[in-house]
Amino acid sequence: MAGVEDQKSMQSGAAEIYLNGRFLPLEEATIPVMDRGFLFGDGVYEVIPCYGGRLFRLEHHLQRLDNSLHAIRMQNPLTRPEWQALLDRLTAQLPGSDQSIYLQITRGSSGKRDHAIPPQISPTVFVMTQPAIYPDATTLATGIKAVTHQDNRWLRCDIKAITLLANVLLRSEAMDRGASEAILIRDGQATEGATSNLFIVQAGELITPPKSDHLLPGITRDLVLELAQQHGLPYREQAISEAMLHSADEIWVTSSTKEVMAVVMLDHQPVGNGKPGPIYARMAGFYGEYKALLQAGQPLS
Ligand code: PDD
Repeated sequence: MAGVEDQKSMQSGAAEIYLNGRFLPLEEATIPVMDRGFLFGDGVYEVIPCYGGRLFRLEHHLQRLDNSLHAIRMQNPLTRPEWQALLDRLTAQLPGSDQSIYLQITRGSSGKRDHAIPPQISPTVFVMTQPAIYPDATTLATGIKAVTHQDNRWLRCDIKAITLLANVLLRSEAMDRGASEAILIRDGQATEGATSNLFIVQAGELITPPKSDHLLPGITRDLVLELAQQHGLPYREQAISEAMLHSADEIWVTSSTKEVMAVVMLDHQPVGNGKPGPIYARMAGFYGEYKALLQAGQPLS
């Protein structure tokens, strides 16, 4: 996969990214302005955590990538071994460290702006890795504030599309209202966060909405459910009405970057006693153990 150009950029010691078959420094990476990702937001992406240099649930992320590509009528441009090799090479630049991989595939450029999908077009594939930025210890210990907002996104929220304008505006509106996440309501049901999945605890039971076109099938969400099952924590996949959300004992949001985070204020009212709850503390412990095993290179289920 590596050419002469690639060898040069590696020798210079600059952090490399991957773009369309080449490894090169980020500042040298460019794409045509006619790329459909730029013109239409016509593409999909993944964010994959890497703990201690080990990829977190790579197979799950690649399966979701396949599902997103299929939903937008694209094929995966790389094979599983090609993905593995390129991710191994990028992550080896920060050996043994916690990282966050961003990968994006757009439909590419046909040289003209036309909504219709051109028959012959090569995708643009971009991958980079950066040191992981976690929520700081204080935020994890104290939890975050969230506000509810009408879910004004489209009806294919299960596709991890790069077209994120609604999510960007929703998150900004949450910040304007003194919160760091918006919890989205569609037809009286809470679906997910603008950038995360949603869990509540009601009478000792963990509840999250079932997968549907209205929410992203989060990889962290699935792990939280698996950990709940392994540790005998009662859980249910069930629709969460606005009333259930507002009377929940605990609210959490999950994502590759937030991991598992307690919401302690919702719409300026305390959730439970306004502190991360006891079930949250247990799950944060299970999640931390899982992460530590990955960092230590231990085999995982
Ligand atoms: N977002 N729902 C939405 C709308 C999201 O944007 C995300 C994650 C999730 C959680 O998915 P996962 O557990 O697989 O990260 C749910 C990523 C982190 C982002 O856009 O940066």
